[in-house]
Amino acid sequence: MERWLHAAVLMCLLVLCSGRELKTKSAPIYNSTLANTLAEYTSAVYTNDLTQLFTWTCEKCGDLTKGFEVIELIIDVKNCLEAYVGFAKDMNAVVVAFRGTQENSIQNWIEDLFWKQLDLDYPGMPEAKVHSGFYSAYHNTTLRDGVVHGIQKTREAYGNIPIMVTGHSMGGAMASFCALDLIVNYGSEDVTLMTFGQPRIGNAVFASHFKKYLANAIRVTNAHDIVPHLPPYYHYFLQKTYHHFPREVWVHNVGLDSLVYPIEEICDDSGEDPRCSRSVSGNSVQDHIHYLGISMHSESRGSCRIVTDDNMLRYKIGTVDGTIVLSKEPGLSVDQQHSAQ
Ligand SMILES: *[C@@H]1O[C@H](CO)[C@@H](O)[C@H](O)[C@H]1NC(C)=O
Ligand SMILES: *[C@@H]1O[C@H](CO)[C@@H](O)[C@H](O)[C@H]1NC(C)=O
Repeated sequence: MERWLHAAVLMCLLVLCSGRELKTKSAPIYNSTLANTLAEYTSAVYTNDLTQLFTWTCEKCGDLTKGFEVIELIIDVKNCLEAYVGFAKDMNAVVVAFRGTQENSIQNWIEDLFWKQLDLDYPGMPEAKVHSGFYSAYHNTTLRDGVVHGIQKTREAYGNIPIMVTGHSMGGAMASFCALDLIVNYGSEDVTLMTFGQPRIGNAVFASHFKKYLANAIRVTNAHDIVPHLPPYYHYFLQKTYHHFPREVWVHNVGLDSLVYPIEEICDDSGEDPRCSRSVSGNSVQDHIHYLGISMHSESRGSCRIVTDDNMLRYKIGTVDGTIVLSKEPGLSVDQQHSAQ
């Protein structure tokens, strides 16, 4: 009897889900394989050992990301920010990945998110407001120059290939500003953005500008992850509230007991689909650090520990203002690079 009930529930769920998919067929395509691949790229940026990351030999540097060539790795030690740029042969694309903040404990960082103000006018977009901290982490640090330089180098070597920008948590916020910057200020074409568990970064006016420039952006959210619920959305205070840009893809489990399975729900283009993650309370930190079965945090939690061995120091080309930049010429292996120098 119970079995039949389960089967019936499962059938209903399947019908409901496929119904949703049909309805959103004309919407921008969400590519689940791409999401898994970019989740792996994002996860790798949490590797503490810079040597392993730069040579793409880290524990997380395999599987769907095998053969990736890091061209530029930028670490702003002072602000505990990090990003890399490189060439993904499989996808024939430039991949740019941003690391989420690990400055203090993740709990403290999340608590602070409740109080972030919309305190900055986004340049050139009337009435678009964003949070200055998120904005500055990308625009007002050495990351921006490093990332742009890395993209230019990669495209000079491999042609005008697509750019895929990704990041998790705070890294997702930075990835969003980066993707927009590449289009608005550098005239880049073919920019794809996919983020994981990112917070809100601006108001509704900003979100609508964002949508114009990045019509196919995807924000993956996971189950009860608290971060996409922050800073809070106040529906009774629409002029002043934060508002996500579209399009959310909400990954969550459906079913009962032993028949539970995950679905990737493609949400509407409002940015704030009430049927997606907003239909549940965001109360989980655990759901924030695991996406699509991949862990999204550094091995030493709650610190900005960065490790390099002496062997690596010869690639350290910049240490201005507490920034480390590891850089190589595209196409050469790290060893060839060494003998060429
Ligand atoms: C989805 O992404 C993968 C990985 O980039 C790619 O190989 C595949 O062709 C994509 N599928 C579609 C339908 O675009
Ligand atoms: C960027 O940094 C400069 C110098 O530190 C500072 O004066 C400026 O207010 C910052 N801009 C933003 C948007 O935070």
